[in-house]
Amino acid sequence: MSRFPENFLWGGATSAAQVEGGRCEDGKGLSHLDYVYYRGPKIPCNFMLKKDLEKAKAEEATLNFPNRRGIDFFHRYREDIALLAEMGFKSFRMSISWTRLFPTGKEETPCPEGVEFYHNVFRELHKYNIEPLVTMIHYELPITFVDEFNGWESPQIIPYCMKYLRFLIDEYKDEVTYWLTFNEINMVTAVPWLGGGILLDRYEELEIPKTFRPFGPLPEKMAKRWDQASHQALHHQFIASAMIVKYAHETAPRCRIGNMFNLHHLYPETPSPKDAYRALEETEYNMFFCDVMAGGAYPAWIKAYYRRHNIEIQWYEGYEEILKEGKVDFIGLSYYLSSVVTADPQRQERIGNFMRLLQNPHLETSEFGWQIDPIALRISLNELRDRFHLPIWIVENGIGAFETLTEDRTVHDNYRISYLRSHINAMADAIEDGVDLMGYTPWGCIDLVSCSLVSMSKRYGFVYVDADDEGNGTYDRYRKDSFYWYKKVIATNGEDLSD
Ligand code: BG6
Repeated sequence: MSRFPENFLWGGATSAAQVEGGRCEDGKGLSHLDYVYYRGPKIPCNFMLKKDLEKAKAEEATLNFPNRRGIDFFHRYREDIALLAEMGFKSFRMSISWTRLFPTGKEETPCPEGVEFYHNVFRELHKYNIEPLVTMIHYELPITFVDEFNGWESPQIIPYCMKYLRFLIDEYKDEVTYWLTFNEINMVTAVPWLGGGILLDRYEELEIPKTFRPFGPLPEKMAKRWDQASHQALHHQFIASAMIVKYAHETAPRCRIGNMFNLHHLYPETPSPKDAYRALEETEYNMFFCDVMAGGAYPAWIKAYYRRHNIEIQWYEGYEEILKEGKVDFIGLSYYLSSVVTADPQRQERIGNFMRLLQNPHLETSEFGWQIDPIALRISLNELRDRFHLPIWIVENGIGAFETLTEDRTVHDNYRISYLRSHINAMADAIEDGVDLMGYTPWGCIDLVSCSLVSMSKRYGFVYVDADDEGNGTYDRYRKDSFYWYKKVIATNGEDLSD
């Protein structure tokens, strides 16, 4: 008997900005991610200040914008979905590009070609009995709203967003059962530009030192601005999310809507009570995003946290009622790595998927320094079960690596097989522990543009895409070793994990 339920939703995950390309085709508008430019194979670039956006606009003709190309899924989706079907996918996580439907976000009616594009994708998926899992907003917002409102910092974005979200439910509710509202909603506080289209220095001078690194210690004024703007934006996203969950429950009762947060498991560095308390604080902060979306209320302690950090939220009118009425049906999460925390603020660093992290001597890391820890996944799944009593879907997980096509036109990615095997075993253990796990969609099932590096060279896929960081290449697809392995895993419902 399989350790996984019979209807377990095996699959893979992508996002529109990272795969679609077709940037201005059929009337598509530009999103804030279309302005993020490539700066080198290992340089994080998804943190932008005013001067970066000005440069992106002024030098639009010469800078390299990989998100504008994606992997050309816009033209090749039939071929790509056939490859997913060949692996036996039961589900496929994708997102809808807000600007393909509403190019500036302000149009009264959506762009018909964009609407038809997603109908075509859903039709193609259903042809192979693959369930779409659709992220409504995978970071992207129309650039218009960055220019006019400083992104999600202003509540003015909410009515426009609601028009877009209601349209999604009205138009696609018969084709899409499973939805996620905001991708990794906690990213708006970790990386305000990425998660919220916020330029931190838009309204005030922040005296940014020449040596400034967005993931190192922050200058005081900037830290304050960061906390304030991003938590205000988060409040607006919570509201929009709850309103659309309520709307979907009322108008599309067959749909099931999840939240999506980046799960961050933390260990104290030592048994010192101070380190243990730091780990608890960070864990509570990580769970806070679920507390609001699944529990339907801000936890009591967060208001004290806001006071301590001088964060003053302008509460949206009637927010308590809205949150209560818009609780999600399942928990969606991404999980890549665990971290170690210390009570000593001088020794804390920020690397690896934008999170704070100390080296854990018991763990190996990926070549990007992300600590590989399947047991933390099991522990966290147990904690989530006890806290929320909801089904859980692991909607992202995986290992990024530099890879090249071998002479035999494949990639021998045994490290990926071993990463996924250990995490699938941890999932099976968690199910045995009583966790209600719905599905597993590893990240970047086809190579795609990396989010942090905005490059092609950091790859996650079962399928190799022949494209480089500059956009050279045929864009042809090649099956990696992990392709055949994952196909067998799905065919045996997670029983045969052997090489
Ligand atoms: C998650 C995002 O944070 O991690 C994805 O939802 C992203 O969009 C993924 O691509 C992996 O991060 P990266 O930076 O390696 O692409």
